[in-house]
Amino acid sequence: MGMPMIHQHLHVLFLSVTLFLISASVARGKQYISAVGDPGMKRDELRVAFEAWNFCNEVGKEAPGIGSPRAADCFDISSKLHRKGKHFSLRHCVTEAHNKLGVGKPLPGLAPAAVNNSDLYAVQKELYLGSLCQVADVPSPWQFWMIMLKNGNYDSKSGLCPENGKKVPPFPPGRFPCFGEGCMNQPNLYHQHTHFLGGDTMRGSFNGTYDLGSDIKGGLDGISFFEVVWEKTVGVGSWVFNHKLKTSKKYPWLMLYLRADATKGFSGGYHYDTRGMLKTLPESPNFKVRLTLDIKQGGGPKSQFYLIDIGSCWKNNGAPCNGDVLTDVTRYSEMIINPETGAWCSPNNVANCPPYHITPDNKKIYRNDTAHFPYGAYHYYCAPGNAQHLEQPVSTCDPYSNPQAQELVQLLPHPIWADYGYPTKQGNGWIGDSRTWELDVGGLSDRLYFYQDPGTPPARRIWTSIDVGTEIFVSDKDEMAEWSLSDFDVLYTSHDS
Ligand SMILES: *[C@@H]1O[C@H](CO)[C@@H](O)[C@H](O)[C@H]1NC(C)=O
Ligand SMILES: *[C@@H]1O[C@H](CO)[C@@H](O)[C@H](O)[C@H]1NC(C)=O
Ligand SMILES: *[C@@H]1O[C@H](CO)[C@@H](O)[C@H](O)[C@H]1NC(C)=O
Repeated sequence: MGMPMIHQHLHVLFLSVTLFLISASVARGKQYISAVGDPGMKRDELRVAFEAWNFCNEVGKEAPGIGSPRAADCFDISSKLHRKGKHFSLRHCVTEAHNKLGVGKPLPGLAPAAVNNSDLYAVQKELYLGSLCQVADVPSPWQFWMIMLKNGNYDSKSGLCPENGKKVPPFPPGRFPCFGEGCMNQPNLYHQHTHFLGGDTMRGSFNGTYDLGSDIKGGLDGISFFEVVWEKTVGVGSWVFNHKLKTSKKYPWLMLYLRADATKGFSGGYHYDTRGMLKTLPESPNFKVRLTLDIKQGGGPKSQFYLIDIGSCWKNNGAPCNGDVLTDVTRYSEMIINPETGAWCSPNNVANCPPYHITPDNKKIYRNDTAHFPYGAYHYYCAPGNAQHLEQPVSTCDPYSNPQAQELVQLLPHPIWADYGYPTKQGNGWIGDSRTWELDVGGLSDRLYFYQDPGTPPARRIWTSIDVGTEIFVSDKDEMAEWSLSDFDVLYTSHDS
């Protein structure tokens, strides 16, 4: 087995280097290079993984019979010449036994203290699945696209989530949705390995429900549901990822994203080592994101659909994060394209606005400048709960929903974003307006306000997660969102051009 394996790996590496050079295309006099392992989702030999998070991005308790909520679908393709033409077959790198691994079961690299700890176990399982899926490449190997699912229920009586990274005692319910004990459960997960449908079309899926007692085969009435189905014809175009997310009375706040995460280090919202797709980490201002988005069903008025959410982590003094949850701060910026989402930032409510806006030609407009500040371009700004020098008035972010403090800059479609190729009008990119976007995410994120302690050197804005999907933020009735995503690419400009 030894020699052929080495040959195969060398072959893959050679192919990747070639693709890497080809994908460096010349556009508008600048060199664009793909930052992802699978530029434009065109690689037939797919790498995709699944993860589920509870309210503070941990596991808490595994769902019975499911194992740790981390899974993957990764395969290589071999072809044989037959009389009738080429015949393809898939060789999977991850088995169902791998996907079912959960607490108590041995896992390579697992420290004894982590064997029975569901949070630590999930971290190690993600690294292990990553090792099975890893593709050799330059400048770094990469592992998979990540499908992330999160349940927004928080049982405040459980004391499970820290407050801005600090362990705090339980507190009375009321502030967060929770139907009672067990509301932070992990979902049932069903996996259909990628297979040929007949012809050269491949398809696979993950789906499931948070309602552990319910059977989705009997219909989805009154129960929550999530599904991602991926499909592609060998040698043609992009994988298409078809998503569905449905809330229920017991699970009114759910999130489902497809993420390009860092291949090592802390991706947005994590405080532990992760695996992903970004073999080069994009840094503001020199990168763009290309993708095709087709929204079929919106998910109701509370569905905050993100036509790109970017996540990173740096400390309030500008230093990079190091895993110390008391001083690390997750930074997110996201544009919400549901036209039913209004601006919470307004001249009468400047606490929900960032202190200032920066124009494409680098002019600062303060939020008290009512004649010029683009209030309608901001849904909501909230500052990190551990910041010491905040400009008043201010709203601070939810201290419990991340393992550490967080800062959010939420945008809305507005003419002010035109220079960056972002949606400029409510309804852009929404149902019936499927498009391929080329977003100057680097240029825009370079000019967003993010909090820093006075007098500290500005943080390097290096983004460890780039996500697309929806957060149905506490719906008052059962809602279904449905969308497809394809052609995802992150492109950066080389410095020597
Ligand atoms: C893990 O839990 C099992 C079952 O309760 C127990 O037998 C085992 O000793 C525990 N392992 C460690 C390392 O704590
Ligand atoms: C969920 O996926 C399974 C395959 O794993 C499929 O048989 C089933 O129809 C799907 N359920 C729904 C409700 O779509
Ligand atoms: C507006 O806010 C800025 C920054 O806080 C401050 O320097 C300026 O004096 C304010 N202007 C007015 C008219 O209040």
